[in-house]
Amino acid sequence: MPYPFEPYKIKVLGPIKTLSKAERLKALREARYNLFKIPSEKITVDLLTDSGTSALSQEQWSQIMLGDETYASSKSWERFEVAVKNFTGKKEVIPVHQGRAAEKIIAEVLLEKNDAAFSNSFFDTTRANFEHRGATCFDIPTEKSADLSKPKLFKGDIDAKKLKKLLSRYGKRAKFVLMTLTNNTGGGQPASLKNTELAGNIAAKKGLKFIIDACRIAENAYFIWLYEQKRKGNIKSIIRKLFSLSDVAFMSTKKDGLANSGGFIVTNDRSLAAKLRELTVLYEGFVTYGGMTGREMETIARGLEEVVSPTYLEHRIGQIVYLHNELAKIDIPLIHPPGGHAVYVDAGKLFAHIPQNEFPGQALAAALYQEGGIRSVEIGSLMLGKTPKSELVRLAVPRRTYTRPHFDYVVDVFKKIAANKKQYKGFKITWQPSTLRHFTCKLKPVN
Ligand SMILES: Cc1ncc(COP(=O)(O)O)c(C=O)c1O
Repeated sequence: MPYPFEPYKIKVLGPIKTLSKAERLKALREARYNLFKIPSEKITVDLLTDSGTSALSQEQWSQIMLGDETYASSKSWERFEVAVKNFTGKKEVIPVHQGRAAEKIIAEVLLEKNDAAFSNSFFDTTRANFEHRGATCFDIPTEKSADLSKPKLFKGDIDAKKLKKLLSRYGKRAKFVLMTLTNNTGGGQPASLKNTELAGNIAAKKGLKFIIDACRIAENAYFIWLYEQKRKGNIKSIIRKLFSLSDVAFMSTKKDGLANSGGFIVTNDRSLAAKLRELTVLYEGFVTYGGMTGREMETIARGLEEVVSPTYLEHRIGQIVYLHNELAKIDIPLIHPPGGHAVYVDAGKLFAHIPQNEFPGQALAAALYQEGGIRSVEIGSLMLGKTPKSELVRLAVPRRTYTRPHFDYVVDVFKKIAANKKQYKGFKITWQPSTLRHFTCKLKPVN
């Protein structure tokens, strides 16, 4: 597939500095081999995350000038609330400063100690917030996702059979079913509309709430439109349909909100919304800003309109497909097919000479920085704090930010690493916090 035509022209520039290899090695040592701690000016291509890293459109920048910073019931809140209702079709909108704030509030309202929650895969902060309440979280990805290299469609689905079994086994302890769209932990793979409907029905039959983590719901809807609806209908109505299946949904607008911050919870249940709002006031801010500025709410309101554009989504997914295909051509082991927001490298396979307890994913992430100043993120033993089935490195693509030469550069760096892979060593942890260790832990290379 050729590189997709950029449906925009560049208007504002941010500089990229390229360091020497010696400078990069020094930066790695100073960061104790934790890429989260490398200063951004020392990064050449930043593929750490697609979260909050989107370039804003001229319309978003112009809306920023209209930001109303009144404490309560501002004009910007009104625009935000209308945009969220229009995007989701839900009646009650609760603003929060980012996705994990929504997770914390939902956890406190819906979960108690010893409860159980079930998902196609919980994102790390979602899991951490739910487990913090004393609940147990079960990832039940479809069997299709087990073979990373098989390009099956909708590998983000939930395993409906296993879900039914687990719900029966956990009985009263089961509290809700959650679909993460797209499934970030599982390779940014989409879930089908059919599977999401099925999961919602299974939850409803047991009298359980059905929740959607809608961070990347537009990208997920694009795949549904392409492969399930065969280009029939439109993306906006698929998004509305997905939201309509949920009792509660939350969204970090740092992803498909095309914004640098923010989030929301939506529901049609007024009494649940009242409970969620009480905690929003306690943790986030008044219920008409939830920790966001008026300017931020303006960018999100506009972003939610832009993200449903087929032209935008075609280019967005096209960039991921391009990077994916170019890496596959040089035999880098990947999760197939390409997902919505990132390319996932099977580091366990590429760095098979590094044992799992020496973090092959982190070794690859460090090598990418060392050889080319590329920042990525390990999604494996280090992040998950347990021995997962696969050791992955995620190359997350910020929205509307990089162009073809950046992707070609990344492919060249991979070529260099793959040609000499045995020289890269594993890592040991020298310090770690009690939760979400990958953000702040310190490491050293194994001799
Ligand atoms: C699927 C998913 N859910 C929740 C979150 C948390 O959102 P935030 O980073 O805004 O707290 C993320 C963040 O990357 C995510 O990918």
